[in-house]
Amino acid sequence: MRNTNRQWHLVSYPEGMPTESNWAMSQSSIPQPGDDEMLVRAIYLDVAPYMRGRISPQQNYTAGVSPGDLMVGGAIGEVVQSNDPSYKQGDIVVSGAFGWQDFGVVKPAMVRRIDADVAPLPCWMDFLGTNGVTAYFGLVAAAEMKPGDTVVISAAAGSVGQIAGQIAKLAGCRAIAITSSEKKIARCRELGYDGGINYRTESDLPAAIARVCPDGVDVYFDNTAGPILDAVLQNLAPHARITVCGTVSLADRFDKPDIGERFMRRILVSRARIQGFLVSDYQGHYEEAWARLLNWYRTGALKCEYDIIEGFENTPKAFLRLLTSQNLGKQLVKVDQET
Ligand SMILES: NC(=O)c1ccc[n+]([C@@H]2O[C@H](COP(=O)([O-])OP(=O)(O)OC[C@H]3O[C@@H](n4cnc5c(N)ncnc54)[C@H](OP(=O)(O)O)[C@@H]3O)[C@@H](O)[C@H]2O)c1
Repeated sequence: MRNTNRQWHLVSYPEGMPTESNWAMSQSSIPQPGDDEMLVRAIYLDVAPYMRGRISPQQNYTAGVSPGDLMVGGAIGEVVQSNDPSYKQGDIVVSGAFGWQDFGVVKPAMVRRIDADVAPLPCWMDFLGTNGVTAYFGLVAAAEMKPGDTVVISAAAGSVGQIAGQIAKLAGCRAIAITSSEKKIARCRELGYDGGINYRTESDLPAAIARVCPDGVDVYFDNTAGPILDAVLQNLAPHARITVCGTVSLADRFDKPDIGERFMRRILVSRARIQGFLVSDYQGHYEEAWARLLNWYRTGALKCEYDIIEGFENTPKAFLRLLTSQNLGKQLVKVDQET
């Protein structure tokens, strides 16, 4: 086991697209857990698009990271010392509040226990983590998806997008992927998506969506905002529902107004509903969603794909992969061995 704690701190707010120089690595001594706390050794660190919002001075739905602060982030790790009777040394846990560091002191309320026999550890940051319940409630509750709907999903080959596409198929819908490459479209098709659109190579994205969705889009699961959203808004079916889940395409202009075309007539004529979505609003129902997702996984109906970068020193690089479309499935950083 290491005898120092490496940490990534934010050094400056990004101007436009974040770069690795927005963070700096430092070393300090390993922290000591207090009463009812435990010390956890990170095995996988999480990187996720929401972090772009946290490193902005703009007001967000939760507190941000200021220059000098430890970078926020979840982790999967092993308990190395526990002062709480409900956890013991060697237990594997997942936490959404750990930080980009080797060792963290956490309270039991901040972690969930992992059973590695149920699914490999990275799955607990994917369908058995926040992203699973995001895809589930974003479609089932926020978009009120129903059998027969044409469901279009952006960032379809990412973590939330892969899960969402598979849930849409399981619900009897037609699932259409929007993503950045032919390789990613092929992967989405393997997972069950009925069709795919490469937003980078289509010269007329609204026309491409009209071609693939001739009867219009009933549900749009929006992970990106920006020009993809604008193109979908020109193809709404009557009573379409749009779940605004993420805005990853705005990563390079996060602090500027999101100016695009306006399609309010289309919203009016199609009687569409645009629903902002935060998964935490469904916290009381996570367990029932995870139970369904796990059941699908066990029967082979749901696949989990992860994209692992090795090395603590590569954590900012791994985060930037998300903003530059390099990941396929859930991006994680492996910082130490599973035992
Ligand atoms: N609201 C909530 O409660 C909640 C909870 C969890 C996640 N989310 C959101 O869900 C979305 C997906 O998160 P994730 O963790 O699963 O990440 P992810 O989809 O695995 O990775 C991010 C993806 O964003 C796409 N992307 C990057 N830059 C883009 C651009 N300029 N235009 C279009 N697409 C771009 C890339 O896919 P392509 O190859 O397709 O470009 C990339 O793979 C994010 O927006 C995240 O913030 C929201």
